[in-house]
Amino acid sequence: MNADDQKRAAAARAVEFVRPGMKLGLGTGSTAKHFVDLVGERVKGGLDVICVPTSEATHAQAISLGIPLTTLDETPALDLTVDGADEIDPDLSLIKGGGGALLREKIVAAASARMIVISDPSKLVPALGRFPLPVEVTPFGYSATRLAVEKAISSLQKCGPLSLRKGKDGHPFVTDGGHWIIDAALTRIDDPKAMAHALSGIPGVMEHGLFVGLAQMAIIGGPDGIKILERP
Ligand code: 5RP
Repeated sequence: MNADDQKRAAAARAVEFVRPGMKLGLGTGSTAKHFVDLVGERVKGGLDVICVPTSEATHAQAISLGIPLTTLDETPALDLTVDGADEIDPDLSLIKGGGGALLREKIVAAASARMIVISDPSKLVPALGRFPLPVEVTPFGYSATRLAVEKAISSLQKCGPLSLRKGKDGHPFVTDGGHWIIDAALTRIDDPKAMAHALSGIPGVMEHGLFVGLAQMAIIGGPDGIKILERP
């Protein structure tokens, strides 16, 4: 079983939590893509759900599969969001945003009664921070915001290099919301809650990739089958 099979197995287990009539948040990334495919199969088989995608990419995938879509304006409270993650710690705090969709992902997860994170075992870590922390910022005042991000991190722990994420064309990567992403290489985040709080208070920071207290369950597809972790 390769990593992609493990991601698909986790997605297949997550689909078992979907009930007819549910309002679903659809995540973004290679793991969430499997979940969306599987929801699409169930919809073709007659499952009645309505979904909010967390990115333009997921929106396009859902449309191609005939999944009925809504928006958070029409449907502001969702039952369940299923999404991937870049890192998952033992408290089910997450780093997300490797795919650049963190802002919509967090809005959708926060609007959901329940969030299930799906992954292969490579995303499980004893402490967050090996994966660079994505911080989504407005292009306006970029250098000032970047300096404020560096100061906020340094007030809590040693700040590693910050880098502006670039696209394949060498220009700044632009999110679905028209923002840029600073990736903060921190090695280890000592206190994710305090870091989340410090970054949230900076004007120009639209969102950061720390998802603390949002996921209730992680479904991990591994070589020996599925492991389910629940938030303590
Ligand atoms: C996108 C995300 C993804 O969920 C995260 O990057 C994991 O992606 P993948 O399932 O492809 O490893 O946060 O913004």
